[in-house]
Amino acid sequence: MKNQPHGEPPLSSPAHQAMFQNWSLFDRIVAGNWMHHQELATAIADCLADAPSDLRVLDIGSGDGWIANQGLRRSAVRQYVALDASADALNRLLTRPVPGSNATACQREVQQGDFLTTIQDLPDNGFDTVLSSYALHHLHADQKPLMFSHIHRVLVPNGRLIWIDSYRDRDETRTQYLTRLGQFISEDWNLLRPEERQATLDHIWSSDFPETEAQMLALLETSHLSGATNVWRDAYFGMWTATKPSSA
Ligand SMILES: C[S@@+](CC[C@H](N)C(=O)[O-])C[C@H]1O[C@@H](n2cnc3c(N)ncnc32)[C@H](O)[C@@H]1O
Repeated sequence: MKNQPHGEPPLSSPAHQAMFQNWSLFDRIVAGNWMHHQELATAIADCLADAPSDLRVLDIGSGDGWIANQGLRRSAVRQYVALDASADALNRLLTRPVPGSNATACQREVQQGDFLTTIQDLPDNGFDTVLSSYALHHLHADQKPLMFSHIHRVLVPNGRLIWIDSYRDRDETRTQYLTRLGQFISEDWNLLRPEERQATLDHIWSSDFPETEAQMLALLETSHLSGATNVWRDAYFGMWTATKPSSA
């Protein structure tokens, strides 16, 4: 695993993601399925049903790799690269079976560090699929264009981005969204202990910067990722796909 570079952390950086340094709380959130990991994993698998075989997959903000392993279960994967800041998450990822329908054919690599830094070392046109689930909302608005320019760069022509994330309603401010999400967490995430719910609330207020769907679509368009499609959504979270055109 590569180490995180030294220096002052940027405004939104792994240093501000304390919640994920010990994975056990997020593991319990995934198990509670309040963020619909089960449905989204099925949506990823369905979305990749028509993908070419021998996929090279980049997972940005992979966490412990649960959603990638589930979502890629029906796909022939030849390379899987996971970027994440959390050593605990990546160590857990490495205890899972290698993703894809033929694990022996897949080369797996993890890179620990700020994904806005680690993605810069990845080759142009290196991946058929970029998956990013519940990770890019941790970037500030002014950091997102750089990330999306790299997503475009690392995708092959006709390669696909699968983007799962929190999203704000049209005209909804960050404060309004986080207040609404906070109510959902406080009232419905009742398998978490009170202190775990509080840690989750503290995390969203310090670290979550979701965009509206219109802003997300504009980011995709500006980054020359076309055919943006909403595949799944509820009132808080959604999944979109977009493709790098063959001529881009
Ligand atoms: C909410 S978890 C999502 C994990 C997984 N993709 C999923 O859907 O279950 C967000 C992940 O993004 C990682 N993350 C957030 N900001 C990051 C950054 N700037 N650089 C690297 N990883 C980051 C966290 O460590 C965490 O593992």
